[in-house]
Amino acid sequence: MSETITIDTGLTKEEKYKSLLPQIIELVKDESDIITNLGQICAALKYSMDGFFWVGFYFRRGDELVLGPFQGPVACSRIKIPQGVCGAAVQRRETIIVEDVDKFPGHIACSSLSRSEIVVPIIIHQQTDIVIAVLDVDSDSYSNFDEIDKKYLEQLCVLAAEMMGRV
Ligand code: SME
Repeated sequence: MSETITIDTGLTKEEKYKSLLPQIIELVKDESDIITNLGQICAALKYSMDGFFWVGFYFRRGDELVLGPFQGPVACSRIKIPQGVCGAAVQRRETIIVEDVDKFPGHIACSSLSRSEIVVPIIIHQQTDIVIAVLDVDSDSYSNFDEIDKKYLEQLCVLAAEMMGRV
């Protein structure tokens, strides 16, 4: 198993994701522990992509989200659904891109350095489409996230859902 992630310099965002996703799959494919794999995904994203200030998973526990594996500064341990961007993504069952966190009503500022954010729900379709977790990425730059991030982070969350569905 490879424990190194290599991303060439000078790549576009889309090229970085295209290089990164197969490496992440390789990194997690022989490991059965979900916490280990989600932690690896956080580190791979934070240290490969530009402006990824905080990357983490929140697990759904009833009407709350509870902090799981993450990379970055300490963050809110629990978020009540549908509060914050994370709670809203669970309620809407869709990815939310926030270009300026100060303009999202109810945004929860775990860090004053956060400027933009993307939250992707992790959905188990076999269980009546239940949202079991979210992937949250914060940036310290405005408008850091777009449809390219949405496309590839959603692919990653399909992988996460498959891994979590096996647990
Ligand atoms: N900003 C998020 C809270 C989690 S932290 O950003 C890590 C939200 O509004 O849901």
